[in-house]
Amino acid sequence: MSQKPTESFPPVITPSLDQQVILKGQKALVTGASSGIGKQVAIALGHAGADVVVNYASDAATAEETVQEIKQRCGTNAIAVKADVSDEEQVQAMFQTMFRAFGTIDILVNNAGLQKDAPFDEMSLAYWRKVIDVNLTGQFLCAREAVREFKRRGVVQTVSCAAGKIICMSSVHEVIPWAGHVNYATSKGGIHMMMKTLAQELAPDRIRVNAIGPGAIRTPINTEAWDTAEAYAALMTLVPYKRIGQPEDIANAAVFLASDLADYITGVTLFVDGGMTCYPGFATGG
Ligand code: BGC
Repeated sequence: MSQKPTESFPPVITPSLDQQVILKGQKALVTGASSGIGKQVAIALGHAGADVVVNYASDAATAEETVQEIKQRCGTNAIAVKADVSDEEQVQAMFQTMFRAFGTIDILVNNAGLQKDAPFDEMSLAYWRKVIDVNLTGQFLCAREAVREFKRRGVVQTVSCAAGKIICMSSVHEVIPWAGHVNYATSKGGIHMMMKTLAQELAPDRIRVNAIGPGAIRTPINTEAWDTAEAYAALMTLVPYKRIGQPEDIANAAVFLASDLADYITGVTLFVDGGMTCYPGFATGG
């Protein structure tokens, strides 16, 4: 008689659809959370019940605003922690601060990122290094510290089906080449393969690793792409859904991927881009 295969960690939690409690009791760290997408992701995770570390690189005042918003609007706990994600010692110190405050980590949102644009033949080594260091190496350093804790602690079934969740903020430019932004596009292509490799390596430990690929989202990183009527019209030729994205669009995806609703999802990039990766230029040509 054939035996049914047994599962080593049968999920015992029925994921809740209630947005207010979907991440109840979980501890999250969002890098680059003092503005833009990171800020909204931090608030949304708080709203879904998580305690949140709001990481920032330089702007303490806006990080503190995010912290206050989480505490007052969401009723969960939040602290601001300064760290340059590309600096190993600062990253390790940030995780120690988080463990002292919250005890552990369940969710890492690797969000911190920047652009330093230039035509290829004018791009300095300093620009190249800065973008690769923050966008790619920063995600490596934070993921490594999180995974060490996920493996040490393992699954706590009353908290989540998984031992830990990592969400890497990528971009449509992990697949769409971007002239004049070779450092940025290369960093996002690297994030894609780092995310998939970590997902493959860590799935047996019940650690899920996914990415979000935002398209054009209204944030300070790309003001020149949307702040005049002409720029907005040009941008819309690239967006079949005909609106710019809002940070909330990304935050909703992050809450979903962090939650047990996504428990069988690992190793994927969820594009949140109004169809930008549908290559709208080919709607009439080709
Ligand atoms: C970039 C934005 C850009 C968008 C779409 C993002 O990853 O940071 O500056 O508008 O991709 O091209």
